Amino acid sequence: MTALGQSAAGWWRSAAIYQVYIRSFADGNGDGVGDLAGIRARLDYLAELGIDAIWFTPWYPSPMDDGGYDVADFREIDPLFGTLAEAQDLIATAHAKGIRVIIDIVPNHCSDEHRWFQDALAAAPGSPERQRFWFRPGRGPDGSEPPNNWKSRFGGPAWTRVPDGEWYLHLYSSRQPDFNWDNQDIRADFEDVLRFWFDRGVDGFRIDVADGLVKDPRLPDADPGDETPFSDQEGLHEIYRSWRKIADSYPGDRVLVGEMWLPDMSRAARYLRRDELHAAFNFDFLVCPWDSTRFRDVIERTLLAHEEVDAPAAWVLSNHDVTRHVTRYGREGDTGFAFADRLHGTPVDLELGTRRARAAALLTLALPGGLYVYQGEELGLWEIEDLPDELRQDPVWTRTNGADPGRDGCRVPLPWSGDTPPFGFGTGGTWLPQPAEWRSSTAEAQAVDPASMLRLYRAGLRLREELPALGDGGLEWLSLGDGVLAFTREPGFTFVLNFSDTAVPLPPHHEVLLTSGPVDGGLPTDTAVWLRT
Ligand code: GLC
Repeated sequence: MTALGQSAAGWWRSAAIYQVYIRSFADGNGDGVGDLAGIRARLDYLAELGIDAIWFTPWYPSPMDDGGYDVADFREIDPLFGTLAEAQDLIATAHAKGIRVIIDIVPNHCSDEHRWFQDALAAAPGSPERQRFWFRPGRGPDGSEPPNNWKSRFGGPAWTRVPDGEWYLHLYSSRQPDFNWDNQDIRADFEDVLRFWFDRGVDGFRIDVADGLVKDPRLPDADPGDETPFSDQEGLHEIYRSWRKIADSYPGDRVLVGEMWLPDMSRAARYLRRDELHAAFNFDFLVCPWDSTRFRDVIERTLLAHEEVDAPAAWVLSNHDVTRHVTRYGREGDTGFAFADRLHGTPVDLELGTRRARAAALLTLALPGGLYVYQGEELGLWEIEDLPDELRQDPVWTRTNGADPGRDGCRVPLPWSGDTPPFGFGTGGTWLPQPAEWRSSTAEAQAVDPASMLRLYRAGLRLREELPALGDGGLEWLSLGDGVLAFTREPGFTFVLNFSDTAVPLPPHHEVLLTSGPVDGGLPTDTAVWLRT
């Protein structure tokens, strides 16, 4: 198969991209942690699923304080995962199977074990080594108060004091010092890192904390919840313009995808102007509660904002930072990213959540633009909320003193086969325990069950590839009554999702292409259908 050679320019405008959280995907060497060898052995599974590209979460050397988002060296592979040679082989093998490769880049911060931060600690206040980060004297008579009132997004203050009395800024854990992007060394080094990986064949980068690199240099105090001094600063656009030039200087379509949680979608769209990023994740869609009006609103706003800059939308239901959507949709009311909104540990109806997740999958696959599939969502996995506390590894858990259990519950290693843990994940254990109930969720069990989530994703992804109406383009809304979300796409495609309490009749059609659940006569509650019209 040489799908890569055949693909039209702008593949990313409609791509289905599968997120591999490496630690939890597949373990090739039996140490209980996923790795590159494990991924290589499962590439055929991904090819059969029908995705266009893989996004690998960070694979760089890291003390793993934040699951690899604390990078010690941007030009190597962590020995836990494999070697640089294996990474290159993985990229080449994926390409040969028609799958593109996007990797994570983490430009906002590094690990405290990164050589530059070690150099900064060893150097004196005011030295060039310290200027690559945000070192500042403290406030108060003896400097024992942090330089400002910013909070870490993982809980606690965003500043940590070093023995000589200065403080350094970290928007995440204290082991993730923020780079100072006003410093030319940082800019030059990251441009070199982009080239390093483009030279090794990667098709693009997912940019971690893409909205946060540039800080207001005055480092002013901020009101609670106000992120303006360290998010969406105007200076970012110039950085991404220079990155875009690098991406465009390589053959093939190399892409830049931003992770940004901005409150205003039209602000986010400004990063998608022609000479900046190619795409950005749509998190408003991710947190949208199960309600037809709210979904229509977020889809409409997204399409409008993206149209203004002629960029494709990038739909996403789950990732390694949020409660898995089977669980979110199995709870009544709004559920969001903030801990208070996650309703952790409250009752959840997994059957309901699964039914809705199936309908949401068909919605996402039918919308104009590209989409992301987070590993395990195609198996219908749910959040594991009752992990033993002593096994939790997310720094959010420790930094909030156990108030927020963190994100480990969506990072439990995947079940591949068999009846007992580790369910074919590897030959050893698993770094987080899998529930016994995943016996019926394995890829092996689902492959032979026509009613499984896996078969739904496979069918949806295949049809999406075949039907000219799907992928990039536009949509027209259809009014089919209260609580019914429906639209058409040309040529000849209609989507209907029934959020209401009663079954609704199907609009006129030639053929039922795919449904998320049984449909006889009418479309039942929480069910979606694809029609040929
Ligand atoms: C992003 C990542 C998240 C990480 C954080 C800090 O939000 O998705 O997993 O903890 O950045 O790098």
